[in-house]
Amino acid sequence: MRMTELIEKKRNGLELTTEELYFIIRGYVQGTIPDYQMAALTMAIFFQGMTARETADLTMAMVESGERVEISLPGKIVVDKHSSGGVGDKTTLIVGPLVAACGIPVAKMSGRGLGHTGGTIDKLQSIPGLNVEMNQDAFCHQVKKIGIAIIAQSNSLVPADKKLYALRDVTATVDSIPLIASSIMSKKIASGAKAIVLDVKYGSGAFMSSEQKARELAQAMVDIGKKLGRDTVAIISNMSQPLGRAVGNSLEVLEAIECLQGRGPKDLMEVCLELAAWMLVVGQITDSSKSARAILTDVLDQGKAWEKFLELVAAQGGDILKLKNKDLLLSPLKAHYKAPVQGYIQNIDARKIGMSAMILGAGRENKDSSIDYGAGIYLRKKTGEPVQKGEALFDLYTSDGQKIQPALELLDQAVTITESYSPNQPLISTVID
Ligand code: URA
Repeated sequence: MRMTELIEKKRNGLELTTEELYFIIRGYVQGTIPDYQMAALTMAIFFQGMTARETADLTMAMVESGERVEISLPGKIVVDKHSSGGVGDKTTLIVGPLVAACGIPVAKMSGRGLGHTGGTIDKLQSIPGLNVEMNQDAFCHQVKKIGIAIIAQSNSLVPADKKLYALRDVTATVDSIPLIASSIMSKKIASGAKAIVLDVKYGSGAFMSSEQKARELAQAMVDIGKKLGRDTVAIISNMSQPLGRAVGNSLEVLEAIECLQGRGPKDLMEVCLELAAWMLVVGQITDSSKSARAILTDVLDQGKAWEKFLELVAAQGGDILKLKNKDLLLSPLKAHYKAPVQGYIQNIDARKIGMSAMILGAGRENKDSSIDYGAGIYLRKKTGEPVQKGEALFDLYTSDGQKIQPALELLDQAVTITESYSPNQPLISTVID
């Protein structure tokens, strides 16, 4: 097989065979196929797309490029969840313990944040002492013992994706649905998921800007899951304003705790309950999302999800006493962003809030930046709420007072206040199963 011919085949809109896709991924990881040829192929895929069969084969070829986690728990289905990222998205911290408390084993490998989006691992590491690095044996042992472990993604999983993503990043080919779908699904499958629930977000704070694009990505991932024998469901949710009221690592952990104690913000609870309900369905705890909701409400009311979260934190070495003391976790409250006029909040641009929180220290500008875990923004007001001129809309936390002014300037562009409020698109628009 010659790579030049395979590039030409895809460039001309033809379908690559299973053997050809395995040849390409193997050769790329081993270094016999150079970056320039792989870049040409990814650009051809960008323009010509891939069939569902090709996308599933590409996914499996990537899975087989590295180690795989296998957790065998007789009678139980290991279910994973994936969110396509956003601002204020702390759903894993809530959904993980909640479904684990219902009997679904949660073996989760998560990522760190970059730019305006946060990452689950940074949020967990804002809990003093909490360890997110574990070898496979310890990871599996913890899942078997307490039903849940959340750790940082291991470097030995899907090396093909690591190399390919870095190439796509510098060749303007990140934005291709088959390449995104295979990248995400390969990591889920390699980390041992037997069933998968996806939260594909759209809007200013999300990877996909339009609902239509989010739907296409969701469908591509559901198709991969089905072809590879993983029961897969996707919800499409709106990320035009941040999810919940907290943006920033410790702030988000505190908000997750409120949710686990049944006191969380309505939008965040709604997304968490929808995701958790589908996890119970694909995990075969029950057969409809409606009956799943009843189980979840019971578990929350009995405090079992909160107990499971504490068990998770303790098992991974986190300091529970510090976790219960807000003042020990947050950086100083340095300023408020105040409403410039009276009216209704029509829009809060999630991306700009994320960027502003990053300026305060909550996120990374580049892969090597460090994080101020206690920094961030708390949204006292959200879309649709009335405000008075001069009223505090957002609280700004940071350890570095010099960051306040640039963060406030960005917040000025993030908020739209109008005389009356016209509702935006719904929070959850579609479920694809
Ligand atoms: N997230 C991933 O893991 N891969 C992509 O290609 C895009 C987003």
